[in-house]
This record gives sequence, C-alpha cells and structure tokens, in this order.
Amino acid sequence: MLTQAPKGTRDMLPQDAHLWQMVEQKMREVAALWGYREVRTPVFEHTELFLRGVGGTTDIVQKEMYTFQDKGERSITLKPEGTAGAVRAFVEGHLYAEALPCKMYYLNNPIFRYENPQAGRLREHHQFGMECFGGKEPSVEAELIGALMTLLGGLGLENLSVHLNSIGCRECRPKYHQALKDYLGEKINSMCPTCRERFEKNPLRILDCKEEKCKEIVKNAPSILDCLCDECKEHFAKLQTLLQAMNIPFQVDPHIVRGLDYYTKTVFEIIMQSGREGLALCGGGRYDHLVEELGGPATPAAGFGIGTERILMELKNRNLEPAAPGVCDVYVASIGQDMAENAFVLTQRLRQKGIKADCDHSGRSLKAQFKFADKIGAKRIVIVGGDEFLRGTVRVRDLQTREEKEIPFDNAEELI
Ligand code: HAM
Repeated sequence: MLTQAPKGTRDMLPQDAHLWQMVEQKMREVAALWGYREVRTPVFEHTELFLRGVGGTTDIVQKEMYTFQDKGERSITLKPEGTAGAVRAFVEGHLYAEALPCKMYYLNNPIFRYENPQAGRLREHHQFGMECFGGKEPSVEAELIGALMTLLGGLGLENLSVHLNSIGCRECRPKYHQALKDYLGEKINSMCPTCRERFEKNPLRILDCKEEKCKEIVKNAPSILDCLCDECKEHFAKLQTLLQAMNIPFQVDPHIVRGLDYYTKTVFEIIMQSGREGLALCGGGRYDHLVEELGGPATPAAGFGIGTERILMELKNRNLEPAAPGVCDVYVASIGQDMAENAFVLTQRLRQKGIKADCDHSGRSLKAQFKFADKIGAKRIVIVGGDEFLRGTVRVRDLQTREEKEIPFDNAEELI
C-alpha cells in the first residue's frame, strides 16, 4: 500500500513533465487568443453545490462523488467537474456586474470521480475548461468549438469530428420527454434497470445507455431535433452555419445527451479516434439556467471541459508525442575532488547566463562523470582541472563531434 498510489490515480513523473507542459502552454495560448482569463477555484466545495448544479439523477452525483464530513461537520465534496465551481466563483465574485460576456478558463483542474478505472477512465483526472458567462448567441458555442479545434489541431490531433446536438429548453424538452415515453411504452420493461429508473426521472438519458439491448430499442426513438421550439431550432441552425463558415467538420448526433443535468440547447462532444470505443475527448454545451439555479442573476452561459490525460493518450496512440528536451546542455566535470568547487562555481555562472548546466554531486571519478554526462544527454562537457587549470583555462569538448577547445576559466561562460 505504502508504495502504491490509490486505484485510478496516476503520478505525472518528471520524464513526462514536458508533455503536460507542452499541452498546458497550448491551452494558455488558445485561451488568451480567445480572450479567456484564468480562474482557480478550490479542489473541494460544499456538497450542495454539486447536488444542485450537476443534478441529483446523474451518475456523478448518485455514484461517483468523493464526499466526506469535515471536522466542522460540513458535507464537503472533491470537485467531480469544473463548471459548478466556476459558476459559484462567478456569482460569489459578483462578476455578473462587470462587462459581459465574462470569459474564464481553468487549467488542469483536478477532478475526482469514483469510477471503475480502465484505460482513459481515472478516479482523479485533470481538465482544461473554458466557460463563457453572459452570451446568449450561438457564436459563443461556435467560438468555444473553434478554440477546441485550434487547440487539438495545434497539438497535431487532426481528423476529429464534433458530435453536435440540441437538447432543447424548458419549453420544448418536456414535449420530447413525453414523445420518448410514448415511444418506449411497454418496451421500457425489457430495458436495463438504469433506463427503467431514468424513464420517470430523466428520460433523455435513456438515449445515452451503453447496453446493447437498450441501444437497439432507442435506435428508432423519435429525435429530439423534431421537437425543438422555434427559438432552439434557430439557435441550432445558426450554430451550424457558423461552424460551416469556420470549416469545422461536425456531425449532428441526436444521441449526444451528456451526463450532467445543467445543459440547455447545444451539447457537443468530440469522440476519441483511437483508444476505447465511445470515449469522449471533450464535452460541453450551453447551460442557460445554472447561474440562476446557483443563486446568481439569470445569465446565459456555455463551456466545455477536456481531459488532459485523454489528450495525452490520443497523442501517444497516434505517435505524436514530442521528444523530451534535454535536462543539461553543458556538464562541468572536475578532475579530482579539489577541483569540485571550481566546477560547481562555473556551473552556477553558466546557469546565470541562461545555459542549462550541471556538475557532479556524488564524488564520481572523471570517467564516471563522462558516463553520467552522456546518460543525461549533455551536448558539451567542460573539464576543470589538470595542467589547463594551472594555465587558467578549461577544456570544452563537444560530445557529438568530439572536438575540443581550450578557453579561459575566468570568462568561460561568455565563450561557451
Ligand atoms: P464531462 O464530459 O463529464 O464534462 O468531462 C469532460 C472531459 O473530461 C471528458 O470529455 C474527458 O476528456 C474527461 N474525463 C471525464 N471523466 C474522466 C475520467 N474518469 N477519466 C479521465 N478523463 C475524464 C464535464 O465535466 C463538464 N463540466 C464540461 C463542461 C464545461 N460543460 C460545460 N462547461
């Protein structure tokens, strides 16, 4: 136990740091270009925020939350998703009183869900999310999808298609619920227990069931797109026009309903090409009532969340991982222990000049220092000591060409 991380969690080891940092840098670049500023919210919130925000009938709330009582007997939950916390911060920070839309992003928010761990499904994962508050037009979803595709394209993840749907609003969704229930009728009795439970509480989610027999039954169910009110229909049509204008490939998929209750109108997902079937790389949509439901003024909003581990998984599956940068450009070796201090001092001077440098910290022989320099990928080695040092110089060897030069010790960092 002592040497094993909890099930469903993963360390980011130093050899993978460059991958995370590369992805993070792209996320920051895209967010800045689209005018989104960073928000950081606590890892835990009052449980009630998620009960109200995410919805009592969702798997997340019913089965997956890490909830505990703190020492003050408050019910606390580790963030099972990023949107509710962002909304809480928007309301608590009175951001609705500032210029709207208010655009924010969160970077590698740790998210906790008690799920069955498997490839791409973790109990702790990290999300990048962009949330826009105060824009009711479909251009908000269009720009969010545009940002996503730019991010993924910038990472080399091409040929991804957005699955798009509209799940209507408070006006038209109840009509669809009824149409779906009418269609299911007696068939519901042969469906799985989860679908039977959802039939009364949240029939839309029946469309999302992964059980083969249920999938077969819902295949011919009426489409929500046929039940949309005029406003939702127009919103959805405008969004598609904007995506076409941006040359973003998408497919309308009435089976995308999302696993969180707050969505209205637009929902979308990007499905991973490689890896497990049906695993989403990203998910998002519009949530026009959540701010109000969480105690703020009525504010239309939309956003998305994308899992960093799944991005990295997709990069790996497509052999798109960039090589790790070297940790050391110049290794300063010392001949004998009495030269170790001079080597150490030169190393510091090189670093001050912005050169990635290192020296021996283990009392190694010169031969062992050479071996180590090679192992860490140093490009050059500086040898401090011997006759050269008596002459006030050091030797510099290029480890690739094997060329050697003698340069003065006093301004070696200028010449290297
Ligand atoms: P979500 O679809 O539940 O949406 O999660 C968003 C993304 O997080 C997924 O597409 C996936 O990349 C990643 N993810 C989810 N669960 C796991 C897991 N167990 N292991 C690894 N990665 C995972 C939301 O959370 C919404 N808050 C998105 C949103 C933001 N909607 C509007 N704004």
